[in-house]
Amino acid sequence: MQGKYLETYQSWMGDPEGFWKAQAERLDWFKPADKVFDAEAGVYGRWFAGAETNTCHNCLDRQIAAGRGTQKAIIYDSPMTGAKQSFTYDEVLTEVQAVAAVLKNHGIGKGDRVIIYMPMIPEAVFSMLACARIGAIHSVVFGGFAAHELAIRIDDCNAKAVISASCGLEPGRVVPYKPLLDHAIDMAQVKPEYSFVFQRDQHHAALRYEHGDVDLAKAVEVEKVNGTQVACEPVAATDPLYILYTSGTTGQPKGVVRDNGGHMVALAWTMENIYGVKPGEVFWAASDIGWVVGHSYIVYGPLLAGNTTILFEGKPVGTPDAGTFWRVVADHDVKVLFTAPTAFRAIRRDDPDGEFARKHDTSGLRALFLAGERADTETIKWAEKILDVPVIDHWWQTETGWPVAANPAGLGLLPVKYGSPAVAMPGYAIDVLDDAGHPVPRGTLGNIVVKLPLPPGCLVTFWNADERFRSSCLEEFPGYYKTADAGLVDEDGYVYVMARTDDIINCAGHRLSTGAMEEVCAMHPDVAECAVIGIADELKGQIPCGFLVLKHNVNRDFKVIEREIVQLVRDEIGPVAAFKNVMKVERLPKTRSGKILRGTMQKIADGMPWKMPATIDDPAILDEITVVLKQHGMAK
Ligand code: COA
Ligand code: AMP
Repeated sequence: MQGKYLETYQSWMGDPEGFWKAQAERLDWFKPADKVFDAEAGVYGRWFAGAETNTCHNCLDRQIAAGRGTQKAIIYDSPMTGAKQSFTYDEVLTEVQAVAAVLKNHGIGKGDRVIIYMPMIPEAVFSMLACARIGAIHSVVFGGFAAHELAIRIDDCNAKAVISASCGLEPGRVVPYKPLLDHAIDMAQVKPEYSFVFQRDQHHAALRYEHGDVDLAKAVEVEKVNGTQVACEPVAATDPLYILYTSGTTGQPKGVVRDNGGHMVALAWTMENIYGVKPGEVFWAASDIGWVVGHSYIVYGPLLAGNTTILFEGKPVGTPDAGTFWRVVADHDVKVLFTAPTAFRAIRRDDPDGEFARKHDTSGLRALFLAGERADTETIKWAEKILDVPVIDHWWQTETGWPVAANPAGLGLLPVKYGSPAVAMPGYAIDVLDDAGHPVPRGTLGNIVVKLPLPPGCLVTFWNADERFRSSCLEEFPGYYKTADAGLVDEDGYVYVMARTDDIINCAGHRLSTGAMEEVCAMHPDVAECAVIGIADELKGQIPCGFLVLKHNVNRDFKVIEREIVQLVRDEIGPVAAFKNVMKVERLPKTRSGKILRGTMQKIADGMPWKMPATIDDPAILDEITVVLKQHGMAK
């Protein structure tokens, strides 16, 4: 293997604590760690125990002290509104201090949870950093989730406040956020004391001041005029920086908890070593702050590393066309781009010959990173041809917060093997185990697991749910973290990630729980039972598809029921669920013990080879499912 990868990985393996201690030196600490790793603390140990720091200080104040005050920190580019605006590190600090002052004035402080439900606007990033500055714990909720999902999160983290905006913008429509927020608060058991609302020009929300609504921009303006300064609150390195809810196997999402210290250390290391960007350069993660990619690589990673980050409010296609990405790359001199494969599939569909790409000067771009779902070889090859840069598939999860496996551009690219996100990054010792927990030979499919302890930056637990974290991630394979991904490691150490081992699907780069969708379908009064599976889709990777068995006495038009159920999922989970395919079946295929054979149904739909499960109760039901799929044009 070329470059410094092997040497770096071995240096980590030889002395994990020494490796991360050295990486921590690039950051500021108010108090050094008593122990680099405390194996006795937390669920599986804690990194940088005893240290005190502040993530906002390291993102802003430290960079300014190092002379980056006048460098652009954030470039906001919105093809939705036509706005283009940049903020230097100095300017971001001013904005963040003003938001921090507003929060403090309303009694929000260290350890309080603040939900951020905002579109891709600079105020969202200022709000995240303001929480970090005062030691409050933010929890960003993606704008495509509906009121019910928001309510679940408000309750689970016992939010003291919500920061929101009057609206989000989707192509061709304005999405008013305030009615969703009000509905969520009405539904939630916990009533946040304040809702800070940023009024956007596209739509003004009616504020209910008597219910604790605050006009965020007005309050911020007062602090800016007064020049209010807010010092960074020292927090323990092990204190939570944020909670990010992600889909689990049930409707109850898992609150991934990220700490302050380990998170900074890991992300700062990745920017130069994995992504190969130097301080001062422009890095663009075309994602959303509601997802982990947005947390790690729109906000924290680039700022911790002294980069300029891009906040893009738009879509890869249709805003206005498939050339938007190339326009942004050219306009802002983007050096490294990171997005989901689905975005490239959408661009390729609209511009197969790359004509839009030729209209813009993308020669400054050095690499494209893809993650969030399996990157198909055709898409990678197409992107390589269009952009003439290395296209790097890398694999990670909300839980890990940074790549588990990648081809590290900064350490020197390794040979590309299509279909593989390359090799384990320092911090991760990857094994593949069979269902009984025994290692399988190289090249054999199994459960991908990571040896404990997880490296800095990975989740430390689920919010208020240590036991759920243990039982869902650590118990099945003792001594390991279960990724819930199936795959293999080949002779050269290249990882291949093939499928989830649970009911999570990846739709348009968004992680969704089919279990949660089943729970919603089952709420419909006409539904006796149901199964939701992910079916392969050329654009989105996978799309959810519901199979419904209706109650015997139901004789309403199925088209009406179908519309109601699609709407129900949209109302309960949100438009992001992309739940549009519903089929009526007489029976669901089950094992003799009553387990629905979702995996077999999925294989049939995807046209994959499948075997009749030995435990099946009635094999004829699979034929019935095949017929229904064919009738709907859904069988491959
Ligand atoms: N607020 C409100 N609604 C939202 C939303 C948001 N932030 N994000 C998505 N939605 C809505 C969409 O408008 C759509 O609504 P519709 O059913 O009324 O059309 C629905 O949720 C489904 O959205 P999506 O699955 O994203 O489909 P799409 O057709 O709008 O876009 C892509 C398809 C591929 C262009 C888009 O999904 C994309 O850019 N994906 C990349 C995702 C990504 O960056 N993931 C992060 C990991 S790196
Ligand atoms: P999320 O938590 O939303 O980032 O989704 C994580 C899941 O997405 C992983 O567990 C994988 O199933 C899938 N995933 C992410 N990146 C890749 C990749 N490069 N290749 C294959 N699957 C991926």
